[in-house]
Amino acid sequence: MTAFEEMGILPEIAKAVDEMEWTLPTDIQAEAVPLILGGGDVLMAAETGSGKTGAFCLPVLQIVWETMYDTSSKKASANKAANSFMLCAKDMGSEAQVSNDGLKIESKNPRAWQGVRTNKGVKRTDDGNNKFYYEAYFSDAGLARVGWSFDFATLDLGTDRNGWGFGGTGKKSNSKNFENYGVAFGDRGDVIGNLLDLDAGTISWYKNGEDLGVAYRLTPQQCSQTFFPTVCTKNAMISVNFQQQDNAKYKVPPRFNWVSHFLNTNKVVSNRKIEESGVSNENKHTGAPKAIILEPSRELAEQTFQCLQKFKKYLHGDVKILLVVGGVNIKDQLEDLRSGVDIIVATPGRLIDFVDKGNVNVNNCHFYIIDEIDGLLQQGNRDLIVRLHSMIPRMFDDGKRLQMIVCSATLHNFDVKKLAEKIMYFPTWVDLKGEDSVPETVHHIVLRVDPREDFFWKSLKRQIVTDGVHAKDHLNYSQPNAETLSEAVKKMKGEFVVKAIDSLKIDQAIIFCRTKLDCDNLENYLNTVGGGEYQYLCAIDGARNPKNNYSCVCLHSDRRPQERTANLEYFKARKCKFLICTDVAARGIDVKGVPFVIQVTLPDEKANYVHRIGRVGRAERMGLAISLVSCIPEKVWYHSNCNSRGKNCFNTRLTTEGGCCIWYNELQLLADIEESLNCTIQTIGPDFKIEVNEFDGKVVYGQKKKAGTGINYASHVEQLSDVVSKLSKLEEEAQLNFLNLRYMKKSS
Ligand SMILES: *[C@@H]1O[C@H](CO)[C@@H](O)[C@H](O)[C@H]1NC(C)=O
Ligand SMILES: *[C@@H]1O[C@H](CO)[C@@H](O)[C@H](O)[C@H]1NC(C)=O
Repeated sequence: MTAFEEMGILPEIAKAVDEMEWTLPTDIQAEAVPLILGGGDVLMAAETGSGKTGAFCLPVLQIVWETMYDTSSKKASANKAANSFMLCAKDMGSEAQVSNDGLKIESKNPRAWQGVRTNKGVKRTDDGNNKFYYEAYFSDAGLARVGWSFDFATLDLGTDRNGWGFGGTGKKSNSKNFENYGVAFGDRGDVIGNLLDLDAGTISWYKNGEDLGVAYRLTPQQCSQTFFPTVCTKNAMISVNFQQQDNAKYKVPPRFNWVSHFLNTNKVVSNRKIEESGVSNENKHTGAPKAIILEPSRELAEQTFQCLQKFKKYLHGDVKILLVVGGVNIKDQLEDLRSGVDIIVATPGRLIDFVDKGNVNVNNCHFYIIDEIDGLLQQGNRDLIVRLHSMIPRMFDDGKRLQMIVCSATLHNFDVKKLAEKIMYFPTWVDLKGEDSVPETVHHIVLRVDPREDFFWKSLKRQIVTDGVHAKDHLNYSQPNAETLSEAVKKMKGEFVVKAIDSLKIDQAIIFCRTKLDCDNLENYLNTVGGGEYQYLCAIDGARNPKNNYSCVCLHSDRRPQERTANLEYFKARKCKFLICTDVAARGIDVKGVPFVIQVTLPDEKANYVHRIGRVGRAERMGLAISLVSCIPEKVWYHSNCNSRGKNCFNTRLTTEGGCCIWYNELQLLADIEESLNCTIQTIGPDFKIEVNEFDGKVVYGQKKKAGTGINYASHVEQLSDVVSKLSKLEEEAQLNFLNLRYMKKSS
C-alpha cells in the first residue's frame, strides 16, 4: 500500500501517482486530501511548489470518478434524499446555507431575511388525523420567523397571503400584517413548536412547550392545499426537527396526541418547483461539468490539466477533463464540450463566456475550486468568482452539497478572507505556513517526569487508572525495572496534571493525550479528584457537578457524534474547564486562544507540537503550554497491526513481536522538537514555579496585557458537527499513516 492509499486515495490513482515518483505526500497534501475526501470545504495556504495542485486534484478526481462509476453509493444517497423531509437549498434565499442533513439553515446577512421551505409539503386527507407539528430551535440568539407557507408563497414568510409566520419579536404575520401574538423568542435554546391543524383549520405555535393559542383560522379552500414548513432568518441559525426518524425525538414533545405525518406518503407531497428544476441535467454529459477549477493563468491551468490527465491514467471508465482557456479556437472547444465533460480547468474569462452563452451548464457542478485566489483577485476577478458561485446550486438531488476548495499564497489577506467567508461553507483552514515557528504569544515549558528521582508515585493515596500495558508485568516498587518505571511515569503524569491545574490555578485548558484510552482515563481521574458525579458522564447528560474544580469533557472518535458535538459546545461555552482530546480530534476543531494547553505526552510528529501549543495565546494574550516529558522510556499502546484497531486488544507484546505496544522515548522526541525549533525549551520543576522575567513578571495567562476582557469564543459549535463526524475516519487513518510514513522515511 502506498502512502497515498493510506490517505484514502483509490489504488488506481495511487498507482499513477507512484509512477510520477511522488512517494510521500507533501505536508499540504497530507492535511488537505483527507479533509477534501471527507466532504468539507477547505481553504488552504499554499504556494506553487507545495504540492497544492495534487492536494486538490487527487481527491476531486476521485470523488468525480466515484459519483460517475460507483453506482452503489449513488443510489444509497439518492434514496436517502428522496425519502427525507428536509430544508431545500433549491427553494431558499440566495444568501443562506443549509446543512448537509437539511435540518439547519444559517444566514450571516444582518440586513435581509433569508427564507427556506422544505423539499416536501403536507396535505390533508380524510382520515381526520391531520395535525402536523414540527419544531424550530435556536443555537444562537438571532432574528427568525417560523411557520408554514404554500410553495408559491414568498420565502419572506408572512409577507404575502400565502405564508403564516411567527416572529421572534412576538408577532404573527400574514399578508404583511404584523400583529402581537404570544411572546418573544429567539434566545439560545428556545424551542418553537409549529402546529398546523388541518382538521380544525388552524395554525398555532408553542414556545418551549407552552401553547400560545390559535393564531390563524384557515379557509376550507386554504386547508385543501399543500403546506410547507418554512423558516426564515436574519443573521442567525435555525434548526428544525420533523421527528421523522426514531433518533430525532422532539426536544419538547407536544402534549396533545400526535403521530408523525412527515413520512406518511398519503399526506406528503413533493414540491413542484423543485421537481421541475431538478430534472434538467440528469446524466447528460454535455457541457455540464461536475467540477470546475479556476486558475489565474493559462500556464497554471495547463499544469493542472496535465496533472489530472496523469492521475486518471489507470481509472476504469473515462473522466473527461477539458481545458477552457483563452487563445484557443472557440469552435474546437465547443466541439469538445458537446462531446461531454466532467471536469473543467479554466481561466475565468473564457469560462464565464461559455456559461453566459449556455454552452456550459453549472447545475451539476459539485466542486468549485479556486486556485491561487489571491492572483485571481488581483486581476479583478472578484465579481466573476462570486457570480459563478451564485449560479452553481448549493445542494444537489443526491443530498450532497457544493464543495469548495480555495488556495491562496496566504490566508492573511483581507480580501481573500472576506471572499472566503462569503462563498465558502465553514471552511477548514489548512495553513502550514510558519509551522515551525512558535507564535510570540505562546510561552511553552517542559516538566521532566523522572520516577528515579521523585518517588511520590510509590505512595499515592488516589491514583489514575493507567492504560494497562503493564497489567501482565511483574512490578516491584522497591526494585523497579523498566516496566515498573514506565508504569510509575503514567501515575506521575496523572498527578502532575492535577498539580499543574492547582499550582497555576488553571481554569481553562486543552489537555492532549496520546490515545483515546488515555483521554478516557484522565477524564475519569479528573472527575474523581473533583468529587464530581463522575462515572462516564458527558455533557449531554447535563448532570455535571458545578463545584467540580476539574470539570472536563472528552473529545475523540470513540465517542458518539452527538456527544462530541455537545462536549465541544460545552467547553466552548465554558461550562466546564477542560477539554481532553487526541491530536486528531483536535485537528479539525476551531478552538484557539485558550490560556493553557497541557500535553500529557509529547506528540509523535514534531509538527503536532507546534499545532498543539499554537492553541494557546492570541493577539496580546499570553498562553502557556506545559508538556510533561518522561525521562525514561514509557511503554505505550500502538495498535498499528491490530485488526480491531485497539478495541478489546490486550496484546501487550511489542510491535516487533507481533504485539501492540512500543517503547516511547520522549527525551528523544523533545530533542527532535528542540532541534527543529532551534531553541531549548525552558524546563520547570515539580513546584511549577515559572520564571516570568521575560514577560515583565506580570503575565496572567489568557488575559490581555491591558485590562483584559477575558476570552470570547464565537459560537461555531453547530457548524462544527460535520467536522467532528469526520474525525473518526481521520483518526484511524492517522494511526495507520504514522507507521507507514515512518517506515518510508527511514527507507528513503
Ligand atoms: C521486590 O524487590 C525486593 C528487593 O530486591 C525484594 O526483597 C522483594 O522480595 C521483591 N518483591 C516481590 C513481590 O517480588
Ligand atoms: C539557531 O539559533 C541561533 C541563536 O539563537 C542562531 O545563531 C542560529 O543561526 C539559528 N540556526 C538556525 C538554523 O536557524
